[in-house]
Amino acid sequence: MRLPGLIDVHVHLREPGGTHKEDWDSGTAAALAGGFTAVLAMPNTQPPVTDAATLALALAAARSKARCDYAQYVGAGADNVETAAALAPRAAGLKMYLDQTYGPLRLDDMTAWGAHFERWPAHLPIVAHAESRTLAAVILLAALFDRPVHLAHVALREEIVLIRRAKERGLKVTCEVTPHHLFLSQADIPSLGTGRSEVRPRLATPADVQALWDNLDVIDCFATDHAPHTAAEKDGPTPPPGFPGLETALPLLLTAVEEGRMTKDELVARLATNPRRIFNLPEQPDTWIEVDPDAEYTIRAADAHTRCGWTPFEGRRVRGRVERVILRGQVAYEDGKVLAQPGAGRDLRTEAKHSQASLPQHQTNQPTTQRTNQP
Ligand code: NCD
Ligand code: ZN
Ligand code: ZN
Repeated sequence: MRLPGLIDVHVHLREPGGTHKEDWDSGTAAALAGGFTAVLAMPNTQPPVTDAATLALALAAARSKARCDYAQYVGAGADNVETAAALAPRAAGLKMYLDQTYGPLRLDDMTAWGAHFERWPAHLPIVAHAESRTLAAVILLAALFDRPVHLAHVALREEIVLIRRAKERGLKVTCEVTPHHLFLSQADIPSLGTGRSEVRPRLATPADVQALWDNLDVIDCFATDHAPHTAAEKDGPTPPPGFPGLETALPLLLTAVEEGRMTKDELVARLATNPRRIFNLPEQPDTWIEVDPDAEYTIRAADAHTRCGWTPFEGRRVRGRVERVILRGQVAYEDGKVLAQPGAGRDLRTEAKHSQASLPQHQTNQPTTQRTNQP
């Protein structure tokens, strides 16, 4: 079965500063193994990507090491409103951390949220880590400044219901849900262990998980939030939050298709078509993936390319295997082996810019389905 190259709009590649967890090489190898031909990298690195110098640092590593296509986010800080806006054309988007999570980037003062909403170009994406009431607050600010906002890793019933209402009102909100919030809940914490189950947003109740499935039409994208930390760190005294996800997302979701929980078209919309539209990414010509939807196997961290060495889905039976990935005409992954070399990936913001026309601004926020648009 042939599918488009998948796009993950939310990954942490840990370079610079955390390359024992992952780097541009291992992270993009994991992406290809998972069927992703493009990844958008988050800015909560060490140092965080918040200005021209740190963006150049991250992009230099990406240019020499990335095996799949990519773009790099810039982080919103209290003092970098003008600096960040000037970098917008070269960035995947602006990332605003509005609740506590891994890394130092967090904006508490809503005045700073507003300043970024005002200055960041309206046709380029802003992504918010905003949980529960913070999510309500950021939707209000986006409405007041009349600009789109993409809500990262929605996990709760109260969140998805609020997003449905916002879309019904015509507000320019889009959202993503992670596989781990669709396939794991608080009920899995005892078997995972407390350190390994640390993730932001936290694993939710089975009722929250059910609400995500019940509101699939409101979910624009599936994004992994691939957040690698080593097994030793997860099992240590101060376990950092985050799960790896690049290599397990597609098999888990294909299994859900096989079980009749969603259609193949719904999967493709959320892993390719909608991410490309919302993030205004260029087409990747001659790019596709080939999957065997009937291959059944057990997820094992030992088979993975990520450097972190573990997965919260260890031992899970899935159906659907990535057999081959073709990126711009080249075989990038085949039969378990990553063939694309470090440096083969392209920056989707800068390198593709001149050959691709940008989408008109109003197209970036079409609701996923007709239904979400109706009051
Ligand atoms: C992420 C990380 O480790 O960078 N952790 C997580 O639990 N999701 C940060 C984030 O995406 O909030
Ligand atoms: Zn987050
Ligand atoms: Zn994240």
